Amino acid sequence: MTLTTKHFGVDIPKIGFGTWKLQDETAQMCVAKAIGAGYRMIDTAQAYENETHVGRGIADSPTPREELWVTTKIWMSEFKDGDLQASLKQSLERLKLDQVDLTLLHWPNRDVPLEETIKALNDACDRGMTKHIGVSNFTVAQMGEAVKHSKAPILTNQVEYHPFIDQTPVLEAAHAMGISVTAYSPLAQGQVFDSPVLKEIGEKYGKSPAQVTMRWFVQQPGVIAIPRSSSPDHLAANNDVHDFELTAEEMGRIHALKANHQRLINPSWAPDWDKAA
Ligand SMILES: NC(=O)c1ccc[n+]([C@@H]2O[C@H](COP(=O)([O-])OP(=O)(O)OC[C@H]3O[C@@H](n4cnc5c(N)ncnc54)[C@H](OP(=O)(O)O)[C@@H]3O)[C@@H](O)[C@H]2O)c1
Repeated sequence: MTLTTKHFGVDIPKIGFGTWKLQDETAQMCVAKAIGAGYRMIDTAQAYENETHVGRGIADSPTPREELWVTTKIWMSEFKDGDLQASLKQSLERLKLDQVDLTLLHWPNRDVPLEETIKALNDACDRGMTKHIGVSNFTVAQMGEAVKHSKAPILTNQVEYHPFIDQTPVLEAAHAMGISVTAYSPLAQGQVFDSPVLKEIGEKYGKSPAQVTMRWFVQQPGVIAIPRSSSPDHLAANNDVHDFELTAEEMGRIHALKANHQRLINPSWAPDWDKAA
């Protein structure tokens, strides 16, 4: 069963497999294992330097290409018109695919006008290199600007989102514009295992804190989550979250953990993040 969320008429799988830091044969093996375990979305990026092995993992899997959703991301150095299309062509060559399902701008780049980059992304879409387009690490204002300049719908904004960060402004603004939010570092890079609340809720259902967290994502409308693991057992467990349901009270207890407001990914080139009220 693949749970999906519909945006602009497009069904997007709600759980995807993250591949940051997975390299070479490990990336290849984990992607094939993830597809075998039921994942139908694979998330990679030019900057992960693993597109070749991600593509091999996809090829190793018996699941037909049309049943899979493949996302890649354009690095910021490739945001000029022409550069973007050429770099996406190289990504497709590495992945050994004719087309990806979704291409994201990995981070906003102040040095290239967003209008130029969004037009280049639309051109890549018109040429059939990508089915859909989106952004990552965009603020509310930047999302609005991207929407203004884009002919094709901006399908998602991929941002850091887990129980310990308050992403209310981005979630509310994205959903008001019909845009989905893709949660990266959804397991807070393993920190969910230290949470007494997630542990306690998990004990009730015989599930781990990671599984409780993934279920919390599944039950949020318009949200996609892309956990990563280098372990076949862990990656299978993270997708084994369809046989229990959190109560409204439990959902609320997990939402309340956002008061910690802990941002794990904040490089020097990050934008001025939206502040929660
Ligand atoms: N757009 C962006 O700028 C951006 C930034 C960051 C991440 N991302 C995307 O989001 C994906 C996920 O984020 P992430 O990689 O930062 O972190 P994450 O998925 O939150 O956490 C990954 C960590 O959790 C551990 N883990 C996962 N499942 C586990 C389990 N069941 N039991 C025990 N440990 C478990 C993994 O260790 P093991 O390998 O040992 O299981 C790994 O150390 C990335 O891979 C990437 O695709 C995008």
